[in-house]
Amino acid sequence: MSSDIRRVGVVGCGLMGAGIAEVCALAGLDVVVHEVSPGAAESGRARITASLDRGVRRGKLTGAERHTALDRLRVTHDLTALADRDLVVEAATEDEKVKVELFAELDRVVTRDDALLASNTSSLPIMKLGTATARPHQVVGVHFFNPVPVLDLVEIVPSLLTSPQTRSRAEAFVTGTLGKKVIRAQDRAGFVVNALLVPYLLSAIRMLESGHASAQDIDTGMVLGCAHPMGPLSLADLIGLDTLTAIAEAMYADFKEPQHAPPPLLLRMVEAGLLGRKSGRGFHDYSDEGS
Ligand code: 3HC
Repeated sequence: MSSDIRRVGVVGCGLMGAGIAEVCALAGLDVVVHEVSPGAAESGRARITASLDRGVRRGKLTGAERHTALDRLRVTHDLTALADRDLVVEAATEDEKVKVELFAELDRVVTRDDALLASNTSSLPIMKLGTATARPHQVVGVHFFNPVPVLDLVEIVPSLLTSPQTRSRAEAFVTGTLGKKVIRAQDRAGFVVNALLVPYLLSAIRMLESGHASAQDIDTGMVLGCAHPMGPLSLADLIGLDTLTAIAEAMYADFKEPQHAPPPLLLRMVEAGLLGRKSGRGFHDYSDEGS
């Protein structure tokens, strides 16, 4: 499937936004990334550069590919720089109010009549984002997985108001241009993957909290006993404990099921700023690795 999308905007340059911007630039697209302030834009660009450098060190990319990808990327704190984009992927913090306001703003800023407005949300209703705009038929969930350059899956999530054409353009972009695999999900909190993954991660945290086993043994159990690439507490640290909490809270709000309620230990760790890899410490210690 070929795609007509060549100019991409990414809103947010944290873990997910930086990964999405990187794969888009490596796919040959012109990419503008928005961050909230000049400082955040600078850190976002540094994050993408560090990942491309790592690709070169690992022999995945040539120096020339790294250079060309960086040339295709502009990181700015000016949202109006997204005006001419064919597709904007919002990857801001997992907060409904922030995302709803952003979609209303993107609706005002993005000038192309046929532009797609996509969200990388893991758990918030696509419908709420769509109805914040005057073009809900062009709003769709496009949910990537972390690390974005490594994981091949994207969940495509239409709301009840998303047009079939928007869904197929998003799918053609993900498969044809980015070379990733698509699965389709209904507009329900957690979609397919997080609906299965989040209760599992929260169970592991409850297991640790109750003194049932150590963090190391819980992780080793799932790596060696079930051949998972990483244990649940290491994975929670990779996702970010603040992000995991936000996803769990959104799922709890949608389903009202105790399995989605964030355990007190998770809440205390977030309050303490122990957010996982990105802060240097979560269930495990990463202080010797950098972020
Ligand atoms: N960018 C580019 N490449 C990367 C990378 C990154 N950020 N991180 C790792 N890689 C590559 C490495 O270069 C390496 O490639 P190679 O084997 O060809 O040299 C390969 O991935 C393996 O990396 P490492 O050797 O450094 O480390 P591991 O073998 O321990 O793998 C991992 C690390 C890729 C993170 C692996 O453990 C893994 O896939 N874990 C599961 C991650 C997962 O489940 N993610 C989903 C989270 S849920 C989510 O994102 C949804 C959201 O809504 C919460």
